[in-house]
Amino acid sequence: MMKRQNAPLPDALSAIGQRTTPPPISWLMSEALKQPDLISLAAGFTDNQSLPVAATKELTRQILEHSQHGRQALQYGPGVGNERLHHHTRKILAELDGRLNFQDQTPYNNLLITHGSQQFLYLITEALCDPGDIIIVEDPTYFVYLSIMQSHGIEARTAPMEEDGASIERLEDTLERLTRNGEIKRLKFIYSVTYFQNPTGITTSLEKKRAVLSLLRRYEKSAGHRLYYVEDAAYRELNFPKYNAPPSSLTLDDYRDRIVYTGTYSKPFATGIRVGFGILPESLYTPVLNIKGNHDFGTAHFLQVILAAAIETKVYTKQLNKARKQYAKKCQAMVDALATHFPEEVHFSIPDGGLCLWATLPKYITTGPKSQYFRASLDAGVLYVPGAFAFADDPTRKKPNSTMRLSFGSASVSQIQEGIERLGKTLKSRLR
Ligand SMILES: Cc1ncc(COP(=O)(O)O)c(C=O)c1O
Repeated sequence: MMKRQNAPLPDALSAIGQRTTPPPISWLMSEALKQPDLISLAAGFTDNQSLPVAATKELTRQILEHSQHGRQALQYGPGVGNERLHHHTRKILAELDGRLNFQDQTPYNNLLITHGSQQFLYLITEALCDPGDIIIVEDPTYFVYLSIMQSHGIEARTAPMEEDGASIERLEDTLERLTRNGEIKRLKFIYSVTYFQNPTGITTSLEKKRAVLSLLRRYEKSAGHRLYYVEDAAYRELNFPKYNAPPSSLTLDDYRDRIVYTGTYSKPFATGIRVGFGILPESLYTPVLNIKGNHDFGTAHFLQVILAAAIETKVYTKQLNKARKQYAKKCQAMVDALATHFPEEVHFSIPDGGLCLWATLPKYITTGPKSQYFRASLDAGVLYVPGAFAFADDPTRKKPNSTMRLSFGSASVSQIQEGIERLGKTLKSRLR
């Protein structure tokens, strides 16, 4: 008798497992790998040449030199994070916020050290959102965050970016519409990337942060719960030398119980030392800490000890100052090359820090991953991030498709100049 073959069994994926699609970043990386000599103005990497190799080697040696200290560093640490790093983080934040009286640490109290700010973003989303909930994001926004939302079945509404942050008028329109159609109960927070925003390079003013918080408070009654402001300050420390960045929302004492703030050490120091942090209102601290307990019950302790030592020995500040000068130079090279090689019809942002800028092309030239322009740019050996990745699926507006993010983080000055020249040439041949 013939043996009956078993029919293949279906995968036992959860709803999240099924919903989670490959992030656009994997696709961009695979494109880059296909062409090893490609000039990538897409990667969100930091400058490779200036990573603090020798200084980190020396710090590591010092940490491991005394066996007792070494053992401490190599042991699990507290779930909330290393105590020394907590102290330094509070101090750095107070200085950045211009709080000269560091005795008042209240705004920075509920601090949690995480595996990059990315983990914190994931945790806060898990703590606050169920499938079907709504988050308002900036238009455009950090595209990896959009993937977290998509994977959790969270809907997006948007507020377009202006020169000093998201449009308050349009945010109010969105809140009004959500109230009218009864959806406001599903709204949990607004997510804002406030310094040298990825992808536009725009910095949000303190006035705008206050205006957003005031609006959110007004709509809380209709929502039936608190509406939070999640400030993602991942690029805050990367201001170019002459630019003084505005204070964070943590300085707005009247709104303290609605502000969630996240920052990172990975951009200013070394992306391979993937340590970030978050600050939460009292009521959210324990739930988020409990969820982190389930993820990993604490961020890699050794990495935190290295960072604490880097801060104490001033290695951190030296590295940061070097990086800021380097990025200012590379940004200028990109801006100059854009002015020289791109047609006048193209508008581009000129950031005061961070790792990227944003270009808007004439509407008839689309830039998406399937567009002719994207393919022609790849053929010319240059990769950029199609702007469409950074626009959420918002059913209330059409997704723009003629923008691109250009990163000056990892490419060298000569690669930037060459890459922009090639992109410009490819573009000019398509002008009407
Ligand atoms: C806006 C923004 N937030 C958060 C992150 C996460 O960074 P990390 O996890 O390295 O702190 C990134 C990384 O590119 C980012 O661009």
